[in-house]
Amino acid sequence: MNFLDSEDLLGINLESPDASSRTYHVPVMTEEVCALLRPSAGMLMLDGTLGGGGHTEMFLDAGAEVIGLDQDTNAIEAAGARLARFGSRVRLVEGNFRNAASVLESLGERRGLGGVLLDIGVSSHQLNEASRGFAFMKDGPLDMRMGQATAQTAADLVNTWQAAELARIFKEYGEEPRAAQVAARIVSLRVQHPFETTFDLAAAVSSVVPRTGARHPATKVFQALRVAVNDELGALQEALAGIPALLVPGARFGVITFHSLEDRIVKHFFKERSQEWIDRPEWPEPRRNPNRIFRLLTPHPIDAGVEETDSNPRARSAKLRVVEKIESPQIS
Ligand SMILES: C[S@@+](CC[C@H](N)C(=O)[O-])C[C@H]1O[C@@H](n2cnc3c(N)ncnc32)[C@H](O)[C@@H]1O
Repeated sequence: MNFLDSEDLLGINLESPDASSRTYHVPVMTEEVCALLRPSAGMLMLDGTLGGGGHTEMFLDAGAEVIGLDQDTNAIEAAGARLARFGSRVRLVEGNFRNAASVLESLGERRGLGGVLLDIGVSSHQLNEASRGFAFMKDGPLDMRMGQATAQTAADLVNTWQAAELARIFKEYGEEPRAAQVAARIVSLRVQHPFETTFDLAAAVSSVVPRTGARHPATKVFQALRVAVNDELGALQEALAGIPALLVPGARFGVITFHSLEDRIVKHFFKERSQEWIDRPEWPEPRRNPNRIFRLLTPHPIDAGVEETDSNPRARSAKLRVVEKIESPQIS
């Protein structure tokens, strides 16, 4: 899958949503998530990307107890209203899933987790809300922070980073072929007037990148900046490194990604921790994998079905991968 088939900003509903309603975000692949994570009465689960609370609500409906985490205050508020009826079975915390272990500790929670879901990326609310600065189709402050505690906005990056650093992220995170030209243009324009709004940046990018097809010329640059502002890949890597230790044997851990950079990280991590045997050219024979802690439940990622993608275009690029923690990790 091409990185930019993901979270196609042109494909999403850009109507202004009511943050407290169910239009905050439509959860993807609910049936598949439920079938694979198997939420049940008494199970303690972590939803590391609470959003509008759709997946969490499904876990709660199945009888599970849920700790819902999101770095966005708006998500905590919207989901809090939606999930209030579940009382103490749900605890919502504003924070980053890269710090899942310390969140559990701060709650005094010593039980292991029976299930974890990360449905990463941005919510429809974040994309739709002009004031959050994610959408080049709406004018707003050039922000792009998913969490209000994130230190630097997209404006901070484009107004202070060196051209080489901007070009690197446009290339690596956006696969923008004209990364260097866009970075040079930004640096020359910001001398006259610092970038403040999404329209400022979209216009600058459009002056260098020609429009091809239906996609807006600024799509790749906006996506790259979003990944950089929120350190999305770093947060995912830290979460993958830390979450396994929080799981009880038999627990299931699912990750939904929306672009290939993230999916690749999840795919490799799950493979590395689930394959039984490893081989190296210098070894006479394969050896047991000492890092094996999982059984891979999805040798191929699960995609959303046609019915779902027809009604929710955002689900088109979603990929779900799930592992199960094995009873006793095998040591060679
Ligand atoms: C795709 S939405 C999740 C939607 C949710 N599953 C639902 O049912 O509504 C992603 C959410 O994860 C949050 N998020 C993304 N990265 C995060 C991180 N590193 N830590 C905490 N929350 C994060 C975003 O703020 C956003 O609200």
